[in-house]
Amino acid sequence: MRTKLPEQGRGRQAVFDQMRDMAKSDADWRHGRVPLYVFKANDDVTAVGRDAFFEFFAENALGAKRAFGSLKRMEDEVVAMALDLFHGPEGAVGNMTTGGSESIFMAVRACREWNRARRKSARHTGNMVIPFSAHPAFTKAARTMDIEVRRIPLAADLRADPAAMAAAVDDDTILLVGSAPCFPHGVIDPIAEIGEIAQRLGIWLHVDACVGGYVAPFVRMIGYPVPDFDFVVPGVSSISADLHKFGFCPKPASTVFYRDPEQAKYQVFNIDDWPNGLFSTPTLTGTRPGGAVAAAWATMQFLGVSGYCEIARNLMTMRDNYVKGINEIEGLHVWGKPHVSILTFGSEEVDIFRVAEVMSGKGWVPGLVRKPPAMHQMMSMFHEVGREAYLADLRAAVGVVRQEPKTKATIKATY
Ligand SMILES: Cc1ncc(COP(=O)(O)O)c(C=O)c1O
Repeated sequence: MRTKLPEQGRGRQAVFDQMRDMAKSDADWRHGRVPLYVFKANDDVTAVGRDAFFEFFAENALGAKRAFGSLKRMEDEVVAMALDLFHGPEGAVGNMTTGGSESIFMAVRACREWNRARRKSARHTGNMVIPFSAHPAFTKAARTMDIEVRRIPLAADLRADPAAMAAAVDDDTILLVGSAPCFPHGVIDPIAEIGEIAQRLGIWLHVDACVGGYVAPFVRMIGYPVPDFDFVVPGVSSISADLHKFGFCPKPASTVFYRDPEQAKYQVFNIDDWPNGLFSTPTLTGTRPGGAVAAAWATMQFLGVSGYCEIARNLMTMRDNYVKGINEIEGLHVWGKPHVSILTFGSEEVDIFRVAEVMSGKGWVPGLVRKPPAMHQMMSMFHEVGREAYLADLRAAVGVVRQEPKTKATIKATY
């Protein structure tokens, strides 16, 4: 039966009771049982973000220029702080969006429009040459804008293969992409080498730092190896970086940046032929939650460099303990050399999808990668709480699978 709007409004208590009741069957993310979707640094950071969000709960960032100068200032400052972190040169610009997919979409649109202008071809669409591991948001943007996608196989270390990417470029190529890091394997692509190709061939390079943007700089500051991935690489034209992932800000919040303000202009939608005059937005969305802008600003102010470094230290210690724990289970190995806190691990001895299936039976939502076959964990500090239980269940699951080698996994990798 289709649900109908209730004839009479219900009491607040009844509404909240029902929501809480529905949530009882949700996965237990608070104890690290969900390998993606939710991010946390610590309770204090969560509280600052939440309270700042509710302080500006009603305001709309669409009206930041005309009505809410506070939000305009906060968004400008978020962008300026990030550009400083990403070595943005003089003149570099950016704006907030509602998520990684939107940031990527806007950069692809800017790139396509800029190419149309410089090629003097109003209908040019062209192709993008991207690593196999690039996020689906690139394909989503490409299909929406009729751009051909060329996904190029990875090198043996699971990073993008710059030579293979260069070989796939032709006169119609408008965009190259590298990730910092990619979602599937958690490794940062060789951005400096892709940047050289981009410069040599005069092609736009977008770096997708949706995952790493707000954590990798601090991971490097505390002494872990992080390859150059931002505007310090001369060939990088644009960067996407999500505040609502490892910036530890409330959803929905991401950022997109451009080295050249002339290129950034092509991101903006300007529409004048309707009754209310010029409508100009740099985002795909119209209305945007003012709370998300305020919360991002407040979180960044509250943490500062020292706070983010402290989080990076905790995160990397946890990551190292997971790597150690997984490698200690006979038959399992972490694939590649993860740069931040996304891990994938598999096995030459047991069917890792079957291991994931057994783990799923114990209440762990499985993250899976098809190539190479692996389990996947995008981890923040929720995952420290569940680390010992996870590793114990994982060890037991490998034992179960070893004892029933003929049982075939039916589980499929889905995002
Ligand atoms: C590397 C990368 N890029 C882009 C995205 C898309 O971000 P969102 O889900 O906020 O749209 C993700 C999401 O996990 C990601 O891992």
